[in-house]
Amino acid sequence: MEPILAMKHIRKTFSSTVALGDVSLEVYPGEVRGLIGENGSGKSTISSIAAGMQKADSGEMIFRGKPWRPKSMIDALQNGVGMIVQESGTISGVTVAENIFLAELGQFKRLGVIDRKAMNRKADEALANIGVKDVRGSTPMAALDFQTRKLVEIAKVVMKQPSILVVDETSTALSQTGRDILYGIIKRFREEGKAVLFISHDLEEIMEVCDTLTVLRDGARIRDFKKEEFDPDAIRTSMIGRELQGDYYRSDFTPSRLDEVALKAEHLQSGSALKDVSIDFYRGEIVGVGGLSHCGMHTLGKILFGAERPDSGRVVTADGTKITNETVAMKQGIGYVAKDRDVESLALNTGIRDNIAVAGMERYAIGNVLITNAKEKRYADQQIQSLSIKCAGRDQLVSQLSGGNKQKVVFGKWIGRGSDILILDCPTRGVDIGVKKAMYELMTSLKKEGKTIVMISEELPELMGMADRLIIMKDGVIMKEFQRSEDLSDAEIIRYMI
Ligand SMILES: Nc1ncnc2c1ncn2[C@@H]1O[C@H](COP(=O)(O)OP(=O)(O)OP(=O)(O)O)[C@@H](O)[C@H]1O
Ligand SMILES: [Mg+2]
Repeated sequence: MEPILAMKHIRKTFSSTVALGDVSLEVYPGEVRGLIGENGSGKSTISSIAAGMQKADSGEMIFRGKPWRPKSMIDALQNGVGMIVQESGTISGVTVAENIFLAELGQFKRLGVIDRKAMNRKADEALANIGVKDVRGSTPMAALDFQTRKLVEIAKVVMKQPSILVVDETSTALSQTGRDILYGIIKRFREEGKAVLFISHDLEEIMEVCDTLTVLRDGARIRDFKKEEFDPDAIRTSMIGRELQGDYYRSDFTPSRLDEVALKAEHLQSGSALKDVSIDFYRGEIVGVGGLSHCGMHTLGKILFGAERPDSGRVVTADGTKITNETVAMKQGIGYVAKDRDVESLALNTGIRDNIAVAGMERYAIGNVLITNAKEKRYADQQIQSLSIKCAGRDQLVSQLSGGNKQKVVFGKWIGRGSDILILDCPTRGVDIGVKKAMYELMTSLKKEGKTIVMISEELPELMGMADRLIIMKDGVIMKEFQRSEDLSDAEIIRYMI
C-alpha cells in the first residue's frame, strides 16, 4: 500500500537550533499514527511542515502520489491536510463564525456585503457536525473558554474534510466531553481510510488512540512501534534514551500540613461557575482540586489569584488582606500558573530571561535598586537548567520555544519568585514525563518548606498522586473532600465528578 503522505529526509533549522535533522515519516490510509517525544524533540515542527505552516530547509513530501508543497496552512487545508495546532489556533476579536470562515468570507458576500445570517448558519452546522451543540456561530470568540475555542478550531478543520488530520497536543486542553468528540472524529477518519497524526504526552492515551507510534528525540526519528509492540517502559526508554527510574509522585500516603491557614476562600459566588464555595488552604499543604472542565475549578483558580472578581464572597490571606486583584495577590506572595499559557501567563515576544525575571524580581533586587544584569542572567540560567528548558539561550524569544518548554518558563517564573502560595491550573499540561517528574519533585519540596500549593487538574492520577487533600467539584459546588490515602480509588472519586 502507498502512504497517503510520505515525508522524506526533512531537515529544519532555526539559526543554530536543529529542530529536525533528517526525518522521514509516512502515514498510510486508515492509519492513526502517534508522535511522541520529549519537549522540543521536533513533533510540532514536523507536523506543521506537513500542514503548510512552515517550510523545510530540505527534503521532499509526496501527498496522494504527487509532490506536496503547501504554500500556507490555508492552502494545505484546502488541499487535504488539516492541523489542530498546539497553541491557540483561533483569534479572539471576532465571532465563532468569522473564525471558522476566516479565509473564505468571500463566499458569503452578496452585492459586496457579507451575509452574516448565512455564515452563522453554516458555522452552526459545522459545530453540530462534530457534536458541539451549545455554541453558536454568532457568539464572540472572546466569550468562550479555552476548551470551547479548541472545539471551534476542530470544527473549522474537520469541515474541510481533509485526508489527513494532524492533532497537536490538543487533548490536554479538552475535558472528557471534548476528548470524546475528538476521539469520535479520529475514529471516523480511520474508518474512511483517511489518516491521522496524533501528538500527545499522555502515554496511556496515545497507546489507546493510535495504531502505530513514532518516537522522536532531538530532531531524529528514533523508533517505531506497532500496536502489538506498545509497551510503556519501552516507549519511555526510547523517548528519553535512558531508563526513567522511580516513582513519579509522592511516595508517602499520609496527609500532612502545618497548623496554620495561609489563604481562605469565603462563600465565593461567581455566576453559575461557583456557588458558595469556601475552602481553607493551609501552609505546607498540597490541595488538589478536581472535577470535569466546567465544574468551576478554573474560575476558582482565577479568583484565588485576583485575576477575576467574584460576585460575592472573598479571598483573604492569613493576615486578613483581601485579594482584590493580581497586584495585591503578588504582593501577598501568591503565584499563579494559568491553564491557557498563551493568553494569561507569558509575554511571548520577549525573551525567557525577561519572562522569568518579571516575576522573580524582588528575590534578587538589592534594596530598591533594580537587579544587576549579571544576577538576573545567572538567575535565569539557573531556572533554565533546573527545569531543563530547551532553548538556544536565556534571551531566546518565548514564542520560539516548543509548547512544553513555554509551560516550563511559566512554572519557572512563579517558582523563582519564591511564592508562598502557588495556584497551579493544569501545571503539567503538555510537558514530557521527565519534566513532569521534576515538577512533582519541586512541588513536594516546596510543600516541605511550608508553602501552600493549590493544584487544579483534570488528571486524576496526578491529583491522587500528589495531593494531601483532594476537593472534588461539580457544577460550582464542592461535592466531596478526600484525604490522602493509599486506598483512594479513582472509581469512587469519579462518582462525585459526574
Ligand atoms: N520559530 C522558532 N524559532 C526558533 N526555534 C524554534 C522555533 N520553532 C521551534 N523551534 C525549536 O525547535 C525545536 C523543536 O521544537 P518543536 O516545537 O517541534 O518541539 P515539540 O516536540 O513539539 O515539543 P513540545 O512537546 O514541547 O511541544 C525546539 O528546540 C524549539 O525551541
Ligand atoms: Mg509541540
